[in-house]
Formats: sequence, structure tokens, C-alpha cells
Amino acid sequence: MKNYWETYYKFSKSPIRPSKFSIFCAKYLKFFQGNIYDVGCGNGRDTVFFNKLKFKCFGIDSCKSIILKNKKKFKIYKKSFINRDFSNLTFLNKTKDSIIYSRFSLHSINEKKEKTFLNKIKKSKNVKILMIEARTIYDELYGKGKKIGKFEFINSHYRRFLKPTDLKKTISKSFKIKYYKVAKNFAKYKKENPKVLRLIAVRK
Ligand SMILES: C[S@@+](CC[C@H](N)C(=O)[O-])C[C@H]1O[C@@H](n2cnc3c(N)ncnc32)[C@H](O)[C@@H]1O
Repeated sequence: MKNYWETYYKFSKSPIRPSKFSIFCAKYLKFFQGNIYDVGCGNGRDTVFFNKLKFKCFGIDSCKSIILKNKKKFKIYKKSFINRDFSNLTFLNKTKDSIIYSRFSLHSINEKKEKTFLNKIKKSKNVKILMIEARTIYDELYGKGKKIGKFEFINSHYRRFLKPTDLKKTISKSFKIKYYKVAKNFAKYKKENPKVLRLIAVRK
């Protein structure tokens, strides 16, 4: 799906205001002192938002052009943007307390990559908090386009709609769920108002 995002960021205007999810998460971060990794950061709006709040936040994205664009646009944060596939967690500083923040990126990767990603998180004991917002099987887009896997569809681009209870179960093995909700009005965009998952979990 790399090419889709390369074209998207070249020709489309993505929202530049911090997401509602980032604003929601900031309330949980008052005393946090480590690194935040905004995985699948896109145009960097949430990475910059967290940095402006004085958190050390890195934006990771596999789309090379958007990372270069972010480095140019946000010069003072240029070292915060990293062009990498987030699923392997190769960007992680292994000693600092860390947060993995994923807004609308978990449903962009396939099941195999999600397994790798969640396994690496489980093993990386310095990852203390997980913050995830993602599309689910309760989304109005679910079932639209070409079905290519159990919950996977291509409709302009690849999406793997999450079954919230499955993700919650996996994460619960090593994290305590602090916030879990599947609802509308979290991620309204133009005419869309999908029922999305919000999950915040803290290392047990
Ligand atoms: C829907 S956009 C979300 C962007 C941003 N988080 C936001 O909410 O505005 C998904 C982003 O995930 C990135 N992405 C998808 N798979 C990735 C992967 N395996 N590694 C790194 N980035 C990935 C895409 O390039 C794209 O920028």
C-alpha cells in the first residue's frame, strides 16, 4: 500500500489540525517523561502536537515522501521524523519509557504484521503505554470494495477492519486496559462518521 500513500500525500489535502484522539490522549500524559512514537504519523500533525506540548515524540511512517515533507515543513522537529515500517519496532529506544501511539495506522497493516508488531511490543518491556484508534468491523465502510481476506478490503486502498474484542484480548495479556470504547463521533471526517475503536492500555 506504499504507493497509495505516496500518491495520496502528493495530491490530497490531509487534515492538519491535531486529531481529536491526540487531544484526548494528552490528558493521560501529564507526568510522562519518556518517548512517544506516533506510528503511521502521516503528515505529522499529532507528532508536532505532542512535541509542542513538550513531549519527546517521534513520527514514524513508511511513506518516504511524507517524511521528507514533514522534515522540511517542521524544521525544528526534523530529527523526530523517521522513514520506517513501524511493525518491527526497529526505531524504539530500548532504555527509555515509551508510548506507542497509533492513530488510524493499525488497520493499515495486515494480520501478519500486526502479530509481529504486538509481539515486539509485548517483549519490549520499556513500552509502558499503548494508545490506539482504529477502524473496526462496525464501520460503514466494512464490506465495501474488493474482499481480499477475512476482514480485509480494498476500496480505494487497503484496510483491515479490526475486531475490537480480539485486539483487546491480545493486548490484555501484558497490558491493563484503562480505556476501551467502540463508538461514533470519535473520528468524523467530511461525510464520514465511522464507529471506531479507542483503546488505552498500561503495562501490567
Ligand atoms: C490513515 S493514515 C493516518 C495518518 C495519521 N496517523 C493521522 O491520523 O492523521 C495511515 C498512515 O500509516 C502509514 N503506514 C501504513 N502502513 C505502515 C507501516 N507498515 N509502517 C509505517 N507506516 C505505515 C501510511 O503511510 C499512512 O501515512
